[in-house]
Amino acid sequence: MKKLFIVANWKSNKTTSQCYLWFQSISGIKLHQAEIAHKEVIVCPSYTLLSEAKKAITESALPIKLGGQNLSPFDEGAYTGEVNGLQIREFGEYVIIGHSERRERFSESDDLLSKKVEVACHHTLIPVFCVQNEKIPIPNGVAIVAYEPIGAIGTSKPDSPKNADEVARVIKEKQNIQYVLYGGSVTAFNAKSFTDMPHIDGVLVGGASLDPFEFLEIVKHA
Ligand code: PGA
Repeated sequence: MKKLFIVANWKSNKTTSQCYLWFQSISGIKLHQAEIAHKEVIVCPSYTLLSEAKKAITESALPIKLGGQNLSPFDEGAYTGEVNGLQIREFGEYVIIGHSERRERFSESDDLLSKKVEVACHHTLIPVFCVQNEKIPIPNGVAIVAYEPIGAIGTSKPDSPKNADEVARVIKEKQNIQYVLYGGSVTAFNAKSFTDMPHIDGVLVGGASLDPFEFLEIVKHA
């Protein structure tokens, strides 16, 4: 059975009390071993929630890892407003880099993203590197790529599993990438249609991950 990555990208949502409730809801539901075997479940909340999330995971021994949604291209120092790799690594093992919202709204360039990947690897954070199509350059050090076509993000108009699989195949072949996830309007209803495809190794879930019950359904059925 192939390994699957189920990644929740909460974006800029939730307060600490909402984060606490999300994890409370998750911990109230027992998952059978068969439902999570071979699945790496990763939640990427805002920086301000990482501590609360880690506490909840530890207290209830949940099979969930944490990640950041971004990181500073610099290490510690005089970089007001930045959160560096060492700080994220205290809480999580993963970091999303190159999301289209960061590329578009925060003008993150390919060069900057490549620097972020370098810093992430230096701190043993595993990058989940987002690309919007198969032509986007992927920096060295990336093993997990999330293919997220812009028109599918937050629109309820996901790519077709067949097309997403073809893009994943090309990325794996041409750029020598080990895992390719699909992201963009993933729901409990459609997740399996993507993870069933031969070249897709998981899903990156935005809106549908905010509801703990829907996210659990995605985890169970992916
Ligand atoms: P969506 O977002 O699931 O809400 O479409 C996915 C993402 O932006 O990572």
